Amino acid sequence: MIRPDLSDRIALVTGSSKGVGRELLLALADCGASVAVHYRSSADAARAVADAARERGAPAATTVQGDVADPDEVDEMFAAVEDELGAVDVLVNNVGPFAPDHWEDISFGEWNTVLQANVNGTYLCCKRALPGMRDQSWGRIVNIGYASSEKGLVDPKNAPYFIAKQGVLMFTRMLANDTQHDGITANAVSPYVVENSDEFPEDLPRGRPADFEDVTQAVLFFLEEGSDYISGENIEVDGGWLPESV
Ligand SMILES: NC(=O)c1ccc[n+]([C@@H]2O[C@H](COP(=O)([O-])OP(=O)(O)OC[C@H]3O[C@@H](n4cnc5c(N)ncnc54)[C@H](OP(=O)(O)O)[C@@H]3O)[C@@H](O)[C@H]2O)c1
Repeated sequence: MIRPDLSDRIALVTGSSKGVGRELLLALADCGASVAVHYRSSADAARAVADAARERGAPAATTVQGDVADPDEVDEMFAAVEDELGAVDVLVNNVGPFAPDHWEDISFGEWNTVLQANVNGTYLCCKRALPGMRDQSWGRIVNIGYASSEKGLVDPKNAPYFIAKQGVLMFTRMLANDTQHDGITANAVSPYVVENSDEFPEDLPRGRPADFEDVTQAVLFFLEEGSDYISGENIEVDGGWLPESV
């Protein structure tokens, strides 16, 4: 496993009370970062992740609550991290809910939740993090995408999710361009099917879903000291899979 030196770094992973986000946050703790565990409703789970992070080597760990799609709550989240740990210099935008059903069968509210949490959440967290990163001329942003949205696979169930994840990738590339003189990189990591998925297609690449470690490996690559010229990129963690029809 890649292991960038993140001592003296402060990392926030959105949606890190469970799943991919939890494992990413613990990997950052392994690398010596002080960490903020973010959750929306799972306070107990978030506290348990913070405890685990301290045990894994994080000099400090805190929990912060908030809906990433709400500008005021995002502001409060970051203010809480700044009070407890300092300015965020590693931001992983991991919150990214799926749609519950076929796009014609979901409500406008359900459609909107997917777009807002994925796109607006990423936008709001990046916007809030950038001034602190610019002040110290160093920052690393990694946004979590979805491999099949990049490859153009059409899945009516997840139409808003695909649209949202495409938006996240476009935003990542724009962000990289906007921060090219600021010591900041912005990249994306896009898994296909991860081990905690609710559904597993029959013909999984390499006969298995991605392990959490597969996703973590890609995120940590962007945080390596030697990766500082790599910005605006997207690593697809999909075992080499291509959709049958695009
Ligand atoms: N799992 C997969 O197979 C897979 C495949 C490709 C891509 N991805 C991407 O990987 C990322 C993580 O997926 P996952 O399956 O690990 O997620 P997950 O287990 O469903 O975890 C979701 C996390 O996000 C938080 N959350 C959800 N909506 C939120 C909102 N509006 N505001 C704040 N927090 C919110 C949850 O907090 P609470 O529980 O506290 O509410 C929880 O911590 C997502 O971006 C997903 O699209 C996943």
